[in-house]
Order: sequence, then C-alpha cells, then structure tokens
Amino acid sequence: MTLPPVITLDGPASVGKTTVAHAIATQFGYLLIDTGAFYRAVALAALRANVPIGDAERLIALAAQLQIEVLPADGSNGVFYRLRLNGEDVTAAIRSADVEQIVSQVAAVQGVRQVLNATFRRLAAQHPRVIMVGRDIGTVVLPDAALKIYLDASPEVRAERRRKQTGEPTSQDIQQALEQRDQRDSQTTLFYPAQDAHYIDTGNLSIQAVIARVQDLIADWQARHGQT
Ligand code: DC
Repeated sequence: MTLPPVITLDGPASVGKTTVAHAIATQFGYLLIDTGAFYRAVALAALRANVPIGDAERLIALAAQLQIEVLPADGSNGVFYRLRLNGEDVTAAIRSADVEQIVSQVAAVQGVRQVLNATFRRLAAQHPRVIMVGRDIGTVVLPDAALKIYLDASPEVRAERRRKQTGEPTSQDIQQALEQRDQRDSQTTLFYPAQDAHYIDTGNLSIQAVIARVQDLIADWQARHGQT
C-alpha cells in the first residue's frame, strides 16, 4: 500500500497538531517530527550557554553545532516523542516557562531558521515516511510534500482545549497568552496555509473527528495515486 511519503501538518499553537500527527504516525508507520521542538531546543541551549537572544550571529553558530534527535514515544502522559539535545533527554526541559518566553525570538532569527530548515529537509529525505508538524512546513520547508494539511481554530477554542488538558479553572489567561504567542509567531513565520494545503477548521470537531478527516485525506491521496 503506497502512502504519501511526506505529510505536512501546519497550524497555530495548541490546535492539536501533535496529537493528530502522533495518531497518524502510529497507525501508518510515519516518523513524527515536531519542528517547534527544535526551535525550543535551540532556545534551551542558548539559555544554558548564556547566549543573548539579541546576538543573532552567536545564536546561528550555536544552532549549527547542536545535535538534535527525535525518538518515538507512545503518547502516554501527553509525551508524543522524546527529544535529545547533544545526547541529553530534554523532552521536559524544552517545555519550561523560560524556554516558552524566548522561543519566538529565537525562531525570528533567519539564520537559525535556515540551519533548522536544512535539518528538517535532511530528516525528511532520510526517512521513507515522515509527518512534519510546524508553522511553515508546507509553505517553506517542504513545498513539494505529497500531502499538506493546515489545522486551524480560534484562540477561544484553543484556549478552552488547553484548559481542559491542564485542568486550570479559567481559560481567559490561557487565551490571552495564546493570542500573544500567535502575535509573536506571526511576525516571524509564514503563518498561513499553503495554497495546496487541505484546510481543516477544527473548531467544532473532536480530536477523533480531526484524525478521521486526515485518514480520509490519506485514503483520497491513495485513490488518486492508483493504490489502495
Ligand atoms: O509549536 P511550538 O509551540 O512548540 O513552537 C515553538 C516556537 O517555534 C513557536 O514560537 C513557533 C516557532 N516555530 C516556528 O517558527 N516555525 C516552525 N516551523 C515551528 C515552530
């Protein structure tokens, strides 16, 4: 059964990209690559090495010499993959508030993006089946990908989902933080669906329904390519 060799899954923060990608990766045998985690790893390394966020040259040099590896995980406790930075497991560390605070600024440095984009393209070329999650994968990183998907939802919906996940009493603060994140991210990345991406408004859909839509898109792709 032929499958699309590369699937891109773009969209804003907290829209459910990684959850969906993990389900598809597990079902069909894809390597899941969450590109946001790589930006987070560079931010973490910069914090540890005391590289000032304003020093683009040092940030780029740092990014270029990092060894970042992704290992599969089974999704329990919300861990969809493990990330290693120079051999150390940093899966939890890249989610810290300190990293969260600076990662958009790190991602705004064009040279850092170039270094990481080269890594992403190499990973996609090395593995027979890759599902790559991010913001600009279908537009910039892998514009020739076989199947492109863009997940979207309003900040209200995304904040409410995150509140349910975290068990926090109110989603208003979460929504405000998300809107700030969107704002920071949109200044630096191509924050829109690729022209040939399948756009899914997840606002009224359960995560299972979104996964089912992606499964349908894969089946359509197979039908169009003469394989089932
Ligand atoms: O998806 P995330 O929250 O883990 O992403 C972390 C940061 O990296 C966020 O500020 C957006 C940025 N990012 C990016 O600029 N380009 C990508 N392809 C993926 C993430």
